[in-house]
Amino acid sequence: MRERKTTNFGMTKMALKRYLSLKNIIPSCIKPQSSCPKVHASKQSPSQRLSLNEFSHTGSPLSLTDLSNSLISLHVFTFKELELITHRFSKCNFLGEGGFGPVYKGFIDDNLRPGLKARSVAVKVLDLDGTQGHREWLAEVIFLGQLKHPHLVNLIGYCYEDEHRLLVYEYMERGNLEDKLFKRDGPPLPWLTRLKIALGTAKGLAFLHEEEKPVIYRDFKTSNILLDMAYNAKVSDFGLATDGPEGEKSHVTTAVMGTEGYAAPEYITTGHLTTMSDVFSFGVVLLELLTGLKSVDKSRPGREKNLVEWARPVLKDPYKLDAIMDPRLEGQYSTEGVKKAAALAYQCLSNHPKSRLTMSNVVKALEPLLDLTDIPAGPFVYRVPADDNSEPVIRKIEQREEELQIVKKEEKKEKRRLARRKIRRIRVRVKPSRSRVVYSDTDLYKALGSSLYAPKH
Ligand SMILES: Nc1ncnc2c1ncn2[C@@H]1O[C@H](COP(=O)(O)OP(=O)(O)O)[C@@H](O)[C@H]1O
Ligand SMILES: [Mg+2]
Repeated sequence: MRERKTTNFGMTKMALKRYLSLKNIIPSCIKPQSSCPKVHASKQSPSQRLSLNEFSHTGSPLSLTDLSNSLISLHVFTFKELELITHRFSKCNFLGEGGFGPVYKGFIDDNLRPGLKARSVAVKVLDLDGTQGHREWLAEVIFLGQLKHPHLVNLIGYCYEDEHRLLVYEYMERGNLEDKLFKRDGPPLPWLTRLKIALGTAKGLAFLHEEEKPVIYRDFKTSNILLDMAYNAKVSDFGLATDGPEGEKSHVTTAVMGTEGYAAPEYITTGHLTTMSDVFSFGVVLLELLTGLKSVDKSRPGREKNLVEWARPVLKDPYKLDAIMDPRLEGQYSTEGVKKAAALAYQCLSNHPKSRLTMSNVVKALEPLLDLTDIPAGPFVYRVPADDNSEPVIRKIEQREEELQIVKKEEKKEKRRLARRKIRRIRVRVKPSRSRVVYSDTDLYKALGSSLYAPKH
């Protein structure tokens, strides 16, 4: 199942054109010209951070030069260049698709442009007949251009030419979590890999929430979580990201956007958005990782259609947990680890936002679970060839073991890295500067009404 196209406010082609006519949002300078072929930026203090607001209001005095100066070295590509590196957006380079449009694999190096580091990239192309538009493109450029973190996907550049809106990201070899978790054509994700993914994305969200000006991600779900070769998880797709409440305010009020099955109940009913809405969505993904079931599946009977409704009551009962755990794990998980992860999911899924944990507390609770390795060994496996269309069973087991080894190696590396960072911090005694964050224009949404989209089948 792929996510339903992100029809957040049903933007039509005409609406898109209206947006594009707001020349002051992005002036012509954004077109790749020799004067601004690549954006190099110097770090600014948090007070100088640029907000989406400043770019979204008509009459805004800001130009793309201001934007360029504030983004951390984004490349501005021409449409032709992106056409070239994706072989004219060929089908064989197709990686996936959401509401914004199709995503293709490409390769950049200094043959394309002198100085470009050779690497694979993912190019997301705005579907002009689709339901998203300039606002989502701009949100991704502004948020991901200013926020850099190991658990947020890295935006390398963009293209803005005539009606074309494209985004160029680092390529994530293992694609999205939705496919890895729910597609039956590969080996199941082992327990420790699931935990590693949960922890990685929790760190990404905690980073967003703890910025001086917090960012609410708003569309946390498995198809927006990308995995690299070593199953490091990164949060991607910032099209719906928005700014947290300012000053004394407890929430921002917006039209309801997100995905059915993931959006927090209070946000759906009141339109009040807080960082706790992301915590709820995180709880849903954690529950999906535990059970191997999709948050919404209309083909399931009765209450089971909605995973949270059906499984949340069981999460607080350690004796019933085995019954809802993903059978594909074949019992190969730490009982203690599962109990604690389930209790965590239960708290994140509270109907009362104030009873939920903050994402940094979720990180603290998840971290020690990776050390719980009381995982029963897998069953003895005969080397039997599987049917024609699938791999031999033994290969699947080997693959699973390889994955576990990768996870363990990566964990050791990360621990060493953190230890080194701690030592450095003590030496210099300087609080590390954080990446910039911006404030966006939620007013843009207000006029556009509420539409909560459901996952596509
Ligand atoms: N950087 C990437 N590397 C690999 N695959 C990607 C990358 N970005 C997106 N994809 C694939 O494209 C799909 C849609 O991307 P996404 O950014 O979520 O688009 P949308 O904004 O349309 O929802 C993802 O679920 C994933 O399968
Ligand atoms: Mg998406």
